[in-house]
Amino acid sequence: MKTLTVFSALLAVTAAKKCIVKSDAAVASEAEEVTAELTAPEDSGVESGEDDELLDLSTIDYGDDVDMSTVKKLPADFKWGAATAAYQVEGAWDEEGRGESVWDHFTHLYPKNVESGDRSKDFSTNGNIACDSYHKFDEDVKMLKLMNAKYYRFSISWPRLFPDGQARKVDGKWNVNEKGAEYYDMVINTLLKNDIVPFVTLYHWDLPYALHEKYGGWLDYHSQDDFAKYAEFCFERFGDRVKNWITINEPWVNCVSGYRLGPGKAPYRCTGEAPRKLQNSTDLDLEGGCSYEIGPTQYSKNSEPLPANRVPQKLEDVWCSHNILLGHAKAVKVYREKFQKKQKGLIGITVDGEAQIPWVEPGMTKKEYENNLKYANLAAEFRIGWYSDPPMVGDYPKSVKERMGKDLPEFTEEEKKILKGSSSDFLGWNTYTAHWAAQAKNEDGSYIQPPTAEEANFDNSKKDMWDDNCKGRGDGWTCIPPTLGSQAGSSWNTKFAPTIRVGLNWFSKRYEGLIKNGIVITENGCAQPNYKVARANDEVTKKYFESIGQPKYADTYKEEDIEREDNLEGTLMHDTYRIDWYDQYLKNLRLAYAVDNIDVRGYMAWSLLDNFEWENGYETRFGMTYIDFYNDKEMKRVPKDSLEHLGQWYLENVEQN
Ligand code: GAL
Repeated sequence: MKTLTVFSALLAVTAAKKCIVKSDAAVASEAEEVTAELTAPEDSGVESGEDDELLDLSTIDYGDDVDMSTVKKLPADFKWGAATAAYQVEGAWDEEGRGESVWDHFTHLYPKNVESGDRSKDFSTNGNIACDSYHKFDEDVKMLKLMNAKYYRFSISWPRLFPDGQARKVDGKWNVNEKGAEYYDMVINTLLKNDIVPFVTLYHWDLPYALHEKYGGWLDYHSQDDFAKYAEFCFERFGDRVKNWITINEPWVNCVSGYRLGPGKAPYRCTGEAPRKLQNSTDLDLEGGCSYEIGPTQYSKNSEPLPANRVPQKLEDVWCSHNILLGHAKAVKVYREKFQKKQKGLIGITVDGEAQIPWVEPGMTKKEYENNLKYANLAAEFRIGWYSDPPMVGDYPKSVKERMGKDLPEFTEEEKKILKGSSSDFLGWNTYTAHWAAQAKNEDGSYIQPPTAEEANFDNSKKDMWDDNCKGRGDGWTCIPPTLGSQAGSSWNTKFAPTIRVGLNWFSKRYEGLIKNGIVITENGCAQPNYKVARANDEVTKKYFESIGQPKYADTYKEEDIEREDNLEGTLMHDTYRIDWYDQYLKNLRLAYAVDNIDVRGYMAWSLLDNFEWENGYETRFGMTYIDFYNDKEMKRVPKDSLEHLGQWYLENVEQN
């Protein structure tokens, strides 16, 4: 029997479904057709009579057993580089006129919510100093050179430019903090001098705290215009030299983690659920994790005004997402109307989201597998399409609208118009890990039925659709084995490299013909396994992958591969786990390009430097460059093995002119 790779199987189901819904979609545009075809979860596409036929496990293949010498290289103009973000690396949090961001405010207020092995230093739980890139940017450039980076993705700190968050131009003059703007002039000019192209993110989560206090930040519709004005300043000031703009980094994480899941991310709102992620840690300030400190807010022009200092409200993440997507669209509109023609740059959004891998197990019927494939599409629409459909096709996926019902705000016709195509220059995707997808079952083995449109809301829509993150999720974020690949250095992060290829195929098919300059992987990487993550799952994971005939994806690692802060000469500097991560993911990227003909145009490794990893602090190290944050006042940059390894990878896998 023909072997089906997971990504081609996903597409096969998509194609099968296309026929099923053809009549509905016949008059729709190609983009609308794609949306429509993915919204009919009731029909598995499997012929009746096949119900009990067992799935032949040898037909499942994750597709990367390929001799790479037979595969074409990435093109010479491939955008190759590394990424960082302002709050995670800059430091200088109160220098030269910078305003406070929500991250400054909340890390200072709730230091216990940030992990740290050394609480004796007051900078160990915040970005006050971070990598001190504000003063040491020249050193960062040296590291970029070691990896042969042609691009550098960094973000601009909105409160460094506009401490109160509100950019205004009066009599031709902006109310900018000039010192802040000069810093970014220096960064951009230094990069260009070094033949490195700046790839600039306008918003990487560091909202000016003043806007949170004034109107609840992204919860209020005024944030859309304030963001667009700030963006306009950046285009005007830096656009003569910056030709690659990302509006928003990861709207899902910003909104769902920041406004729903509790103490994980600023502004630490949580919508009534028990704060989950860190609940097993004993020394966290969980009370403070659900912040009531917030300004009076109006979600949209037609919403009821909400009072200041209220308890978190249901659907805050949904309204944050709505406003941030519109903020993105308005910024793009400004760029297109006032700058793009002259400056000739590209602009797009970066979404995050795990590709969805259909759950497979021995003894499963073909029908059950097909059903999981279908749920993988549906789960991807919720997890990713929610954020990528609006900037591509102008609206939320039909499935999300149906299942969310009245809980989902609607875009007006005018808004749809500015959203549609607002990321058609390129689409940025941050990819790290993968999720299993399966339709959840009741205890008696029957499927949990999708809710009807009337009863749909975010909670029960999600429940029936996928097994989030691992094979399931217990209380909190602890993975229930088997995890999808080995456990890397963050609780949410497992190593399963085919995810990048599955995801690229998913985007490419869904938005066929709509993305002019391809997909750019704007982040990918890992923290090495460290003392903070539990490995209880290893054995189960190994046995599971053996049972489906895919032992290599269990990818267990040895005890000595676990990073130890006091063992520089160990895997801290000789980061073999990370090297293997990059090798595997990049191989899958190259296969997506060369074998699947996916238009993927760039790859930015996360991250250039060890840095402030948000609520995980400084000992979850994603960097290819080591920094001894607590003891070295000079913050010396020391390249790890992976940095030069990537430099070599570039020479061997990308066409050299
Ligand atoms: C991304 C985020 C980065 C970085 C990375 C690793 O979600 O954009 O800022 O923290 O994850 O966790």
